[in-house]
Amino acid sequence: MEFKTIGVLGTGQMGAGIAQVAAEAGLRVLMADLNREIAEKGKAGIAKLLGKAVEKGKIDAARRDAVLARLEPQDSVAAFREVDLAIEAATENIELKRKLFQGLDEACPAHAVLATNTSSISITLLAAATKRPAKVIGMHFMNPVPVMKLVELIRALQTDDETYDAVKALAERMGKTCVTAKDAPGFIVNRILLPMLNEACYALMEGLGTPEDIDNGIKLGLNHPMGPLALADLIGLDTCLAIAEVLHKGLGDDKYRPCPLLRKYVEAGWLGRKTGRGFYRYEK
Ligand code: CAA
Repeated sequence: MEFKTIGVLGTGQMGAGIAQVAAEAGLRVLMADLNREIAEKGKAGIAKLLGKAVEKGKIDAARRDAVLARLEPQDSVAAFREVDLAIEAATENIELKRKLFQGLDEACPAHAVLATNTSSISITLLAAATKRPAKVIGMHFMNPVPVMKLVELIRALQTDDETYDAVKALAERMGKTCVTAKDAPGFIVNRILLPMLNEACYALMEGLGTPEDIDNGIKLGLNHPMGPLALADLIGLDTCLAIAEVLHKGLGDDKYRPCPLLRKYVEAGWLGRKTGRGFYRYEK
């Protein structure tokens, strides 16, 4: 099984990052979102990042142009009739993802693999929404995708070996290292990360320290590249809440209950970097 053309559904920060690393690995990438305008915006963000890489002398202009030429924004997933693999990177919502998988199953050719970048939702459940469950797999990239080395691979109960091997080889071609996780809420990385981010929210809510104190405590005290509140802002507080809810519901243990302050921030629309305000304020 060889992947030449892939489709990325969802062109926000994760989808755009995935599209970028795929194009950098030489693949033709069809980008789709709610409409062409959003997909074009995703590509424009990648062009900006590659422009900065040219300015820094990391790549030359010819390389930038070649990568950009492989990125093709589309009107909808109907264009995915040409893909060998589709990677879904939409909002973290079970019902939405189930519908999107049914749509991908209809749009993509019979041989195509359907992967999801979900950070916590059951791959087995998404596989069951399609007529090709053996060709469905979790391919979980980390944020920011071009920088982070890891891809977490998650097999649904139904995933066959051919699909797993081909997707692992592709992730490696993209310059990533894979770990394989069981299909359980949060897989490996978020099962461990989210309780820490959630606890940092409790620490703030209970007045243990200022956001800066909490983040510097972890950054300087544990040598993490960024503090948990700044990281939650980078991931998106809505995404953090959605993952925390999957852990709480799926594992049935109250130790995973989402922090009320996290909920309040999401209710306020303070979703982190993407809205200009989360635990910190950002220039838009
Ligand atoms: N896209 C592409 N490249 C980016 C980027 C982005 N959004 N943000 C930073 N970079 C690049 C910069 O261009 C820079 O590249 P060069 O070295 O080639 O110049 C490099 O990354 C370092 O950036 P900075 O110097 O600006 O900043 P930094 O050294 O503080 O690094 C960071 C920024 C990479 C984000 C670093 O702080 C970090 O690793 N933070 C932790 C990130 C992390 O934990 N991610 C996982 C989140 S969890 C997840 O994703 C799973 C989930 O499902 C929720």
